[in-house]
Amino acid sequence: MRLRPEGPADHPDIRRLVAQAFARSDGGSPPEVRLVEALRGSDAWLPELSMVAEVDGEVVGYALLSRVWVQPGRIPALALGPVAVLPGRQRRGYGRDVVQAALDAAAELGERLVVVLGNPAYYRRFGFIPAARFGLTGPWSGLGDPWQVLVLPSVDGSRPVVPSGEVAYPPPWSQV
Ligand SMILES: CC(C)(COP(=O)(O)OP(=O)(O)OC[C@H]1O[C@@H](n2cnc3c(N)ncnc32)[C@H](O)[C@@H]1OP(=O)(O)O)[C@@H](O)C(=O)NCCC(=O)NCCS
Repeated sequence: MRLRPEGPADHPDIRRLVAQAFARSDGGSPPEVRLVEALRGSDAWLPELSMVAEVDGEVVGYALLSRVWVQPGRIPALALGPVAVLPGRQRRGYGRDVVQAALDAAAELGERLVVVLGNPAYYRRFGFIPAARFGLTGPWSGLGDPWQVLVLPSVDGSRPVVPSGEVAYPPPWSQV
């Protein structure tokens, strides 16, 4: 398996992968597909943090980190999502590895805070905990524990002061 940031040639594969992983019963295009493409064209896009897992030349897993702000405009943070693995390749560790690769790359870049909306049973393995414990609010804080945060290890070993306040997502997220 190769873990690497996406390149332009990966766009169709990522689109297909996300569409299959989030396939809807009505056959419609899932909003996560549009989310990736809208983020790619926005200020929130961080190309090094759009991570793919490739096996034998096929993109099988995907994890995206993009810019959000705590206390709007003041403290940069990252949102994780979507995270997707091809249906025929799930439960083999590709999801775990591609998410961890994205988080490691973010820590290397000096990023400190990641938020995610998702199943705590899945995300706690990466160290995510309910965001409410830090007093972070956001569009999904009303959902309780699925609204989570991870404090990334710092390169210099310092302990971050975790900000509290509202997490503002850029406009592409309003479609999910
Ligand atoms: C969720 C998803 C990305 C996980 O990727 P994956 O490659 O299947 O997961 P992994 O093999 O890395 O799983 C590692 C562990 O997570 C568990 N797990 C996998 N999917 C899970 C889920 N949806 N909820 C809870 N646990 C899950 C596995 O059982 C495994 O547990 P174990 O280590 O105790 O055996 C993938 O199943 C997927 O694309 N699902 C559809 C899209 C989706 O729901 N994305 C996440 C939105 S929050």
